[in-house]
Amino acid sequence: SFKFFENFDIDDELWYYTKIDESSSFEKEEFLGDTYLLNGNGKVLAEYNGIDFRQLSRKLLLRTFGLDFSQWYYQIEWQPAALTPSETQEPGTYLLFCPTGESNSKSKPWSDSLNSQLLEQGHQCIVVYPGDSYKNLSSEAKQQTIQLSPTDPEHFQKLLDEVNELTEELPLQGVIHLWSLDTDVAELAKAEEVICGSIINLLQGMRSLEQSPPLWLVTQGAALGFTSQESEVSSNIQPQQALLSGLGKSITLEYPQLYCRCLDLDPNTEASENLKVLLDEVANHQPSTSWENQIRYRQGERQVARLIQPRLDTDDAKLTIETEASYLITGGLGALGLEVAQFLVKQGVKSIVLLGRKSPSETAQESIQELEAAGAQVSVLLGDVSVEKDMVEIFQQIQDTLPPLKGVIHAAGVVDDGFIQQMSWEQFTKVTAPKVAGTWNLHKLTKDIPLDFFVCFSSLVSMLGSPGQSNYAAANAFMDAVAQYRQNLGLPGVSINWGPWANIGLAARMGAQQQSRIESQGLQGIQSEQGLQALEEVLATQEPQIGIFNIDWSHLLSQLGAATPPFLSEIASQHPLKGANQGPKQQEFIEELKVATTEQRQSSIVDYLLGIVAKVLRLSKSDLPDPEEGFFNLGMDSLMALDFGRMIQTDLGITLSSTSTFEYPNIQTLAEYLEGIIPKIEQTETESETTDTAIDLKNLIAEVSQLSADNMDEAIDDALNQLYQSIYVGN
Ligand SMILES: NC(=O)c1ccc[n+]([C@@H]2O[C@H](COP(=O)([O-])OP(=O)(O)OC[C@H]3O[C@@H](n4cnc5c(N)ncnc54)[C@H](OP(=O)(O)O)[C@@H]3O)[C@@H](O)[C@H]2O)c1
Repeated sequence: SFKFFENFDIDDELWYYTKIDESSSFEKEEFLGDTYLLNGNGKVLAEYNGIDFRQLSRKLLLRTFGLDFSQWYYQIEWQPAALTPSETQEPGTYLLFCPTGESNSKSKPWSDSLNSQLLEQGHQCIVVYPGDSYKNLSSEAKQQTIQLSPTDPEHFQKLLDEVNELTEELPLQGVIHLWSLDTDVAELAKAEEVICGSIINLLQGMRSLEQSPPLWLVTQGAALGFTSQESEVSSNIQPQQALLSGLGKSITLEYPQLYCRCLDLDPNTEASENLKVLLDEVANHQPSTSWENQIRYRQGERQVARLIQPRLDTDDAKLTIETEASYLITGGLGALGLEVAQFLVKQGVKSIVLLGRKSPSETAQESIQELEAAGAQVSVLLGDVSVEKDMVEIFQQIQDTLPPLKGVIHAAGVVDDGFIQQMSWEQFTKVTAPKVAGTWNLHKLTKDIPLDFFVCFSSLVSMLGSPGQSNYAAANAFMDAVAQYRQNLGLPGVSINWGPWANIGLAARMGAQQQSRIESQGLQGIQSEQGLQALEEVLATQEPQIGIFNIDWSHLLSQLGAATPPFLSEIASQHPLKGANQGPKQQEFIEELKVATTEQRQSSIVDYLLGIVAKVLRLSKSDLPDPEEGFFNLGMDSLMALDFGRMIQTDLGITLSSTSTFEYPNIQTLAEYLEGIIPKIEQTETESETTDTAIDLKNLIAEVSQLSADNMDEAIDDALNQLYQSIYVGN
């Protein structure tokens, strides 16, 4: 009950006094009690009797204030998935972009063997090597060898004209791009030309091809473990190759007819093993609408990429700042850069370096004044992060004049969208420059400085892909890989794949078309306060890469429908669509339940519920809870409970009240309830059922007749109460 004795103002000094009832169970952390609200003089203003107190987690409290982001965190996980064999292929032609072995002599011998093995299988091969000019190097039966320049569109046109002629009899069966294997991060500009320049020219030229062959983008050591548990300790990480993986995500969306696959070979295995793997993948290529487009091999295991929502331990996230140190923000005069500067100064930073190419705008000047008013020394240094010379000078200046550098936020970036078909090399590199050359310059110049953090402001585009943003996807994928690369060197590094921020910055300035695409995907803008709180949480983790975006999955998945890519399958299983039809797995489960005995039904439902609880709470399969443990003790909050209920409804095709987790507070009791309402097949043994019912009725009558009048009242009260709950509250 609540009693209010007097009006009061919420801004007054108020005190709560709580008396815990003796019946409370300290062991179970369940407290009953009364609370009094008092003013500063100790006068009781209100009284609340019989309150049921529960411990509130920090997360739940933050959620109450709209500051819990656990639902916004994403990572990519590699999950084992065996290759499904397909029918034997007819002989055809393969277009192979083979490395010359210039930078990585290890890749040439086995990629040459790929060519000879395909020839042995009866295929024709057109082998293309990178060079300065267009040359027909050799022409033998079923094998042509051509050299061309990766950046010359005319060379590709000429090549594809030849391909058209050469494939009249043996149709083009696949294009395999292996050039990235022969690149070196130390020669980044060249690597970008060989990898991205060649792909863009190839795709633009392919318009003239009479066929749409499957496209294989092969890397070795680019698709890294994106979660800290998975991260590889390897000296063979090739961050420059990640440009191809990023590009591949946009190709998948812009050219679905090519069934583009990014295949990352094991950098720590024998050449013969890689050759076998590649031949197997190519031979078992299955053109289907739900093809796996991100595959990697590690220690003999085939793995596929899945977007997951990790459970990050950010409960006590607190950024530790060294006050006598400097912090550099590239793109520091831009929207997010200035927000982060304000945030760092609030955390106690005294020396901030803001880097940009142009002098501060009026808004930036106002923001700088605020920073200075808050006691910070703000150094605006002008330079281009992608130009090594500029950066060497800037680092020298920091070293000579400011407190030691302790942290870097790399937020310099530009966008210039366009479909690959119309993308010029200038447009491509304009976007990649600050994030590719820029990130590498920052890495080189800080690798010997003991930093607390090195944060790359990447985008969700390199996680999910985005049509019309291939340059941006490639650039951000490189940053994601550098963060991992740095962690492998024992250096700090995290790449944050931000979703769009609301009202400020690049996303807010996008054209109407991109804006409406973002909205139609169910993406909602991140408010500055939320973004900064999330940044603080992420900095407290050791993860190399984290996506932070606010997306309404039910909305997006309902649009994708059957076209939902396998990459989103984990997410899709956690966000069932309202009213969606049950999948074959669920239907099979229901069919099994219908014919099972009561005992079997109950144990199957308990197993099923354990799986759903694990999904909602993101527990691993080895960490399943006790079926008798209360849902709320397991950490399920009311939003999770809603998801939980929704999943059960979709899977089992039943209707549950929104309060079912209160009414049946653990897996065991809920399973018993569900067992009673999930349809059973009216078996031919109608007889035995009738008997069962008769026995039940008999038992029931016997039970009721033994109840005292008080017990009977109580039972009727309970029944009415349940009825009331399901009619009014459940509605
Ligand atoms: N805003 C979002 O919603 C969002 C979402 C996902 C990711 N991000 C990422 O977050 C970062 C910051 O975005 P923002 O929205 O704050 O963009 P912004 O307002 O345009 O700021 C970016 C800043 O980077 C500077 N810059 C660009 N190229 C540079 C270069 N080569 N050298 C030095 N400075 C350079 C620009 O200044 P000058 O042109 O004067 O040099 C600009 O002030 C970007 O990397 C972006 O990709 C933003």
